[in-house]
Amino acid sequence: MDTVGIDQSRLPRHIAIIMDGNGRWAESRGLFRIEGHCRGESIAHEVVEACGELGIGHLTLYTFSAENWRRSGEEVQALMHLIETVARRQIEGLHRRGVRVNVLGRLHELPCSLREELERDMALTRHNCGLRLNLAINYGGRAEIADAARRLAERVARGELLPAEINEERLREELYDPTLPDPDLLIRTGGEMRISNFLLWEIAYSEIWVTQTLWPDFGAAELLQAIRDYQARERRFGAVPSRGEPVGAGAGLLL
Ligand code: IPE
Ligand code: IPE
Ligand code: MG
Repeated sequence: MDTVGIDQSRLPRHIAIIMDGNGRWAESRGLFRIEGHCRGESIAHEVVEACGELGIGHLTLYTFSAENWRRSGEEVQALMHLIETVARRQIEGLHRRGVRVNVLGRLHELPCSLREELERDMALTRHNCGLRLNLAINYGGRAEIADAARRLAERVARGELLPAEINEERLREELYDPTLPDPDLLIRTGGEMRISNFLLWEIAYSEIWVTQTLWPDFGAAELLQAIRDYQARERRFGAVPSRGEPVGAGAGLLL
């Protein structure tokens, strides 16, 4: 992996990726859409490896959105099967490399066997200290915020919390993984200039990097390019950096 030009001291702590373009990749080759998804799996594997090698703390992969149920029954079923098969095949290797797997999304709505596989994977890897790999499955940003709001309302109803005590930090505590730092870098492959209901709360100040490359053609080299571009940006978080202050300094105060 060619890490020339990467500043190891300023790596993004959390990279989130909208892995888009599998269907177009397949259709342009006269293949079934699911063949694009299958090919996408090896790219996800390559990106997980690269993030582990680089020492990235958190990687979140948008794997299946809460809206992807709107696709044909055939594609949805094939995707559920693929996610389960891949999880089963990859988990040993991930565990050996110290990866901790976590799932973001409404797990209880997934087919039983997939849910059980994911629950096993999370339990097996929960003490690992390497890369934290978050799989957003049946994930919707609005659903996550609505779920958090419901839990806050339940706490108020139980008398544990006053409405006046609800603030941004309290809401964050009710998100699917309150320990997850906000993504520093959000990558979208496939060229669409939209968020598609991904991590709406968490990406408030993420740096966005969109590539035309379809997910099955993505890889570690382009990931490194995204990180280099990220490192050349100035993050201001609404403030005006004072002259001579290093880029990004002080941001922690505002987060
Ligand atoms: C992204 O690829 C993967 C999932 C949504 C599961 P798409 O299937 O959306 O691919 P395009 O956007 O149709 O090319
Ligand atoms: C976003 O891609 C979801 C995933 C990558 C899992 P979509 O293909 O579903 O997004 P839209 O429909 O183009 O916005
Ligand atoms: Mg798409």
